[in-house]
Amino acid sequence: MSKRPSIGFSEFSAPEKGIAIVLVTKDGKFAREVEAIDGASLITRLIEISDFKGKLGATVETIAPEGAGIDRVVLVGVGDPAKLGHEDWIKIGGAAFSKIGHAGTASVTFALPETQLSPENAADFGLGLLLRSYRFEKYKTKKNEDNGAEPKGGVKITLQTDNPSAARKAFADAEAIAGGVKVARDLVNEPANVLGPVEFAEEALKLEKLGVKVEILTEKELKKLGMGALLGVAQGSVRPPRIAVMEWNGGKNKEKPVAFIGKGVVFDTGGISIKQASGMEDMKGDMGGAAAVTGLIHALAARKAKVNAVGIIGLVENMPDGNAQRPGDIVTSMSGQTIEVLNTDAEGRLVLADALWYANDRFKPRFMVDLATLTGAIMVALGQHHAGLFSNDDALAEQLFAAGQATGEKVWRMPLGAEYDKLIDSKTADMKNIGGRNGGAITAAQFLKRFVGDTPWAHLDVAGTAIGAPNNEYSQSWASGFGVRLLDRLVKDNFEG
Ligand code: BES
Ligand code: MN
Ligand code: ZN
Repeated sequence: MSKRPSIGFSEFSAPEKGIAIVLVTKDGKFAREVEAIDGASLITRLIEISDFKGKLGATVETIAPEGAGIDRVVLVGVGDPAKLGHEDWIKIGGAAFSKIGHAGTASVTFALPETQLSPENAADFGLGLLLRSYRFEKYKTKKNEDNGAEPKGGVKITLQTDNPSAARKAFADAEAIAGGVKVARDLVNEPANVLGPVEFAEEALKLEKLGVKVEILTEKELKKLGMGALLGVAQGSVRPPRIAVMEWNGGKNKEKPVAFIGKGVVFDTGGISIKQASGMEDMKGDMGGAAAVTGLIHALAARKAKVNAVGIIGLVENMPDGNAQRPGDIVTSMSGQTIEVLNTDAEGRLVLADALWYANDRFKPRFMVDLATLTGAIMVALGQHHAGLFSNDDALAEQLFAAGQATGEKVWRMPLGAEYDKLIDSKTADMKNIGGRNGGAITAAQFLKRFVGDTPWAHLDVAGTAIGAPNNEYSQSWASGFGVRLLDRLVKDNFEG
């Protein structure tokens, strides 16, 4: 496992060893606190000679002169200091880490000319360092530095700021969030032979050590609750389903919780409506929604968020076998509504139908947000840089949009409406589990909407963003952990205290 870099805070002083990291604006300016390492105008000359424009996330480096004590000087661009939001600082931290690597000592002069940096800026920068340091390498038995071995000693990074104790305090939250993102990424990267529904539920149980109340519902209990939709998906697998309920009670006593529901299909073969072979391996990540919910509850608990939050994840495997559900089967959901299963590969909505109904019925939450790698169609619509957002509540949709803009886990609102809803009416049951060929992400969302009652609800289709998403400054992982930072920000900005 990659060792977490150790990150500390101190007052400004001339760095004595390792790598000196200097922030540079788009005008090629840097803080006067750096002057100690700018001997013989080293930095000024480096900027000039390399034609460094200080673009956000750009880097350039040089060796330090002999006798300076340090080895290298790395410049990291921040762009326009007046325009830096949360995600920008995370990117800058990620870019800095890419130049530090996994060994050695680095000190960052965390200051800019004419711009007062806040403890939150330092925390976001630190979050970028941590997120970029993530690697999934537990299955590499022959390790060397190229394929992910940890050089001895790990990496020690000191952020020099004008208020180290405030920065250290703000950074504690960032560590909690990075921990949550790591939980989500690890779960998604884990192959399905290792991580079945039972094993996933055991991972959820580990949140107990953070003070989370965790309850695992077994197959017997799911049957008793009448979750025919979820159970129909699970019946083709030899591995039994589970639902995990994770409760973080950091808010006022008796205050209704906010609820997060995740699709946890540990592997999606498509069932009898089997998928083509090419690319099917990616379906080990079809529990990205459940992973994000687990990571989110971890983050909220680890930073002791002042909110009551519940996470509910539906864990199943979608397999074809002698007992698998057939196209044409009709199942009865916990809500009592019947569903004609025309395509066994539209299984996520069946799992969520019962998980959403259960969440609403049991907790009467203030709102529900579900996350699911639900449709290929959302990638056709939005590519991989926005998750699809569907909601019955404008205020919640706007809060999610704002949280997306701040964190870079962006969402784009898609329509719902009676015309789309009609497309999933069935001749023989209350509804069918597929619409027509067009608007596939929308008809999937309409399906979910039939299981949320009047509770404010938002659905995030993360098929394009949770797995195989493009790399960036702070994620080099196939599993991005999408949703953890977004929903942590949603809670922090709107539902705490
Ligand atoms: N898990 C898939 C959606 C998916 C596809 C996620 C690619 C990530 C990457 C989902 O269960 C599925 O198979 N959806 C079908 C729905 C169709 C049968 C109506 C799809 O999108 O093709
Ligand atoms: Mn499917
Ligand atoms: Zn699926």
